[in-house]
Amino acid sequence: MATATTPLVELLRSRYSVRKFLPAPMSASDIQGVLEDAQTSPSNSNTQPWAVHIASGAARDAISEGMLTAYGEDRTSADFTSGYGDGLYAERAQRHGATVYEVWGVARSDTEGRDEVVRDNLRFYGAPHAAFLFMPVLGDGVRTAGDIGMYAQTFLLSLTARGFHGIPQTVLGMYADVVREVLGVPEDLKLLFGISFGTADPAAKINDLRMHRLPVEQSATVHEMPATGSSLTADRECGKP
Ligand SMILES: Cc1cc2nc3c(=O)[nH]c(=O)nc-3n(C[C@H](O)[C@H](O)[C@H](O)COP(=O)(O)O)c2cc1C
Repeated sequence: MATATTPLVELLRSRYSVRKFLPAPMSASDIQGVLEDAQTSPSNSNTQPWAVHIASGAARDAISEGMLTAYGEDRTSADFTSGYGDGLYAERAQRHGATVYEVWGVARSDTEGRDEVVRDNLRFYGAPHAAFLFMPVLGDGVRTAGDIGMYAQTFLLSLTARGFHGIPQTVLGMYADVVREVLGVPEDLKLLFGISFGTADPAAKINDLRMHRLPVEQSATVHEMPATGSSLTADRECGKP
């Protein structure tokens, strides 16, 4: 487990998405510490466009219930579209789905099992807290969304550094109206995604999953590599749990 003194590289490599949490809540001061860390995130022209709502206790339960009801009624209210097209990224997403469902023991044809996985998402995977990352839509929203991504990664790394974990969830953004209504968030703030967070369940097999990463060379092109210096190596080449 990472601690606040864990060197950064080790910290980066020890973060992963948790899909089963223990119910024990974090302390208010731990959550405040994470929020203060996340607030250091960079943003376009220092606009800091994130509007973050943390739901715990009764608010968390009401959102989960509302989302589960909306899911049951096939009533989504996403502020942003999603989808991966039908090429390379769709293939990667399918591979990801296959890996996760395999660990869960849910077959492709098992519609009930898949349904339950979505419901588990909407129960925040058992996490006692959820952060909802809202943003104003400025222009086409892309730069603002980039800023929210910066914030989210700092938030996740801060959790890891403090011995906790989280998982960003686009699925939570599919029910933006439910979240807005329960938390009283104004209509002009749009929900990009949520992060469920708390303490990872160490006994859950799903939490042993470490997702594969492409070799660096497939993502980054280094022009005029310096003759000496540190080397970039991905230590997560294989997705073995
Ligand atoms: C913006 C964003 C949205 C995501 N949405 C979901 C989600 O709805 N449900 C889920 O189980 N995982 C979700 N994930 C987690 C990804 O599947 C995960 O980050 C990816 O497979 C890499 O694994 P790792 O986070 O364990 O390194 C999301 C991740 C990001 C960054």
